[in-house]
Amino acid sequence: MKKILIQLDTDDQYSAFDRVVAIDSGVDEIMSYANVNPENVEALVHGAIFTRKPDDLNNTAIFIGGSKVEAGEKVLAKIKETFFGPMQVSVMIDSNGSNTTAAAAVKCAANHLDFKATEALILGGTGPVGHRCAQILAAQGATVRIASRSEERAQETCAEIRQAVPDGKVVACEFSDEGIAAAVDGVNLIIAAGAAGVQFLASDELEGIETLKVAIDVNAVPPVGLQGIDPSSKAIEMTGFTTYGAIGVGGLKMKTHRSAIEKLFVSNDQILNTSEIYSIACSIVS
Ligand SMILES: NC(=O)c1ccc[n+]([C@@H]2O[C@H](COP(=O)([O-])OP(=O)(O)OC[C@H]3O[C@@H](n4cnc5c(N)ncnc54)[C@H](OP(=O)(O)O)[C@@H]3O)[C@@H](O)[C@H]2O)c1
Repeated sequence: MKKILIQLDTDDQYSAFDRVVAIDSGVDEIMSYANVNPENVEALVHGAIFTRKPDDLNNTAIFIGGSKVEAGEKVLAKIKETFFGPMQVSVMIDSNGSNTTAAAAVKCAANHLDFKATEALILGGTGPVGHRCAQILAAQGATVRIASRSEERAQETCAEIRQAVPDGKVVACEFSDEGIAAAVDGVNLIIAAGAAGVQFLASDELEGIETLKVAIDVNAVPPVGLQGIDPSSKAIEMTGFTTYGAIGVGGLKMKTHRSAIEKLFVSNDQILNTSEIYSIACSIVS
């Protein structure tokens, strides 16, 4: 039976990136829909669940994408509400690439750190990628500082993470030129997940953090988020700490995305969101 992936994109135009990855993951047919929202998704879900016998529903799956994570999460909630009994298919959500990128970045850090003893700082921590990096790290037992230009936005992200990880140790951190010393004090891990082209730390500031063990920058657009880390860096040593750049993380991100799509077709009852996608990243031998 053919493996069909139903791509539900919340943007005006469905993502070419997500279609290519689906095809590279062995999907036989991809059906793509743009402008998907909670009001119009029910009919699409019915199309997915009422067309094949329950035993065959593992051959149909749904992928939620689009640039807005919140919009994707609302579509996911409505999809779950529409499923009933055995009438369901597996679903993956990766709006804006946030889950696969965060999972890959945190897995790179996990190669070097014991998270239960890790003090982490997420720069750009209120964006989709930073939020999910922080969520995964908190779930793994790290203490996480979520940095933002606005303490209020950082607090909001902390509150959202505490809903997903009730015992997560997350603290808001206002990041400004004057506040750099306090923000980086005692950190072992920095993940820079700011908007493309935003630089947070100069190389001398980075090298001055004596406790730093791992620094990861997921921004490939010049200037990079952490000066001195080459985008292609993959476990390259800088003075006293290990670095990963956006392309260095990107290889694992792509493998994670493809592996998650393949996993959708193993059974019809999976929801692959942040924690599940992190588990997939951890299962990949690179
Ligand atoms: N390597 C990969 O495979 C891959 C895949 C996907 C995305 N990415 C990259 O990952 C990064 C994060 O993506 P995203 O979608 O989460 O980013 P985003 O939403 O565009 O930005 C993240 C955060 O950056 C902060 N920010 C924005 N402009 C800023 C400025 N001028 N100065 C300081 N901070 C600023 C904002 O936080 P506050 O307003 O709260 O300060 C924002 O929430 C991007 O660089 C993206 O290109 C990489």
